[in-house]
Amino acid sequence: MNTHFTVFERSLHLERYPAKHQHVSLQAWDAADEYIIEHVENCSLLESTLNKDTPFLIINDDFGALSCWFSDKKPVLVSDSWISHKSVMTNLMINGMDPESIEFCDALTNLNEVIPSKAKVVLIKIPRSLALLEHQLIALQSVLDEGSTIIAAGKVKVVQNSVLKLFEKYIGTTTTSLAKKKARLIFSKYAGIKTKKSPYPTIVSDPLIPFSLSNHANVFCREHLDIGARILLKNLPSALNKSVIDLGCGNGVIGVSILDQNEGAHVTFVDESFMAVESARQNVINHIGSDERATFIVSNCLEELLKEESSNYDIVLCNPPFHQQNTITDHVAYQMFTDAKKALKHGGELRIVGNRHLDYPIKIKKLFGGYEVIDSNKKFSILSTYKARQ
Ligand SMILES: C[S@@+](CC[C@H](N)C(=O)[O-])C[C@H]1O[C@@H](n2cnc3c(N)ncnc32)[C@H](O)[C@@H]1O
Repeated sequence: MNTHFTVFERSLHLERYPAKHQHVSLQAWDAADEYIIEHVENCSLLESTLNKDTPFLIINDDFGALSCWFSDKKPVLVSDSWISHKSVMTNLMINGMDPESIEFCDALTNLNEVIPSKAKVVLIKIPRSLALLEHQLIALQSVLDEGSTIIAAGKVKVVQNSVLKLFEKYIGTTTTSLAKKKARLIFSKYAGIKTKKSPYPTIVSDPLIPFSLSNHANVFCREHLDIGARILLKNLPSALNKSVIDLGCGNGVIGVSILDQNEGAHVTFVDESFMAVESARQNVINHIGSDERATFIVSNCLEELLKEESSNYDIVLCNPPFHQQNTITDHVAYQMFTDAKKALKHGGELRIVGNRHLDYPIKIKKLFGGYEVIDSNKKFSILSTYKARQ
């Protein structure tokens, strides 16, 4: 993996978290990071506008290129991703920088409570989800004034009209730079717009489930049930009095169904998105009436849970992701299966839904020694496997 991030002859060592599971071809920054840093340094933007009391926001830094580069300017980092937070923290330490130089916030944090006055400079990496961007631009309004400088960056393919329209709608006049190494910058001037009602969270109902689901902006399948989730919902195990993990819980549709159908079941909801875990918590409270039978953990796979305990769970249910940030990858699914084995009791079950073209069966057979196909359709299979009894 290339870890030497160099701009203007200054180098940083940057890794994607967790470094040991990444494909060697993946690196922790992209051309949009380089472009925005070059721009800010070329116009000495931070030197001319910031002093120690003027708030500086970095939004959606992927793995720490921006936060580490500008760490001496004491930025506030806003990101919905636990993996991004962890990457930034790890990269600060690798580069001998003070982790306390950065204030970490999730994307649901009320920015007014974090920064003392209006933001002077805001740097934004365009996220994969337009809904997250929309939520973030609305949330930004309360900390902007006409003196704020807002610069966003993304690969050319993500800087589309739909993105520019969101900036025009929620911030004000918006222009773009020329493309450089397939990246582009967006410059937006705050026009004092105050949006009264955010479109988020959204509510989803479906005949397959006896409850509706509330979804914060960055939640997977915010507007309808996922087709993988649909087949898993038709093949849920009996879980009376069992302890169950909903791994990669999203809005919690799988775990809430388990709580709904099984007296005495306890579900631990885990996701790397703060918005997902918060949506799952809301959905448990809305439908089950209390969160007494639930635990909520923001984590990369089961890392945070496994720090406290292992071999305690009866069942792990999982509809694994395909992405880490903007990259399609299968390493997250594989770490999920490996972590699930550690979390399960001997005799405990891992039940997953997987796209049939993926090699999940091979991986599961290698880890657990075998599996059973419980159901399948043209696109998906439900695989069940057990951790061997001692
Ligand atoms: C395919 S979605 C499934 C969501 C929900 N369980 C469902 O069936 O609709 C995968 C989920 O995994 C989460 N995820 C992605 N990477 C993760 C990681 N490294 N650790 C934990 N969760 C992750 C995503 O945020 C997403 O909510």
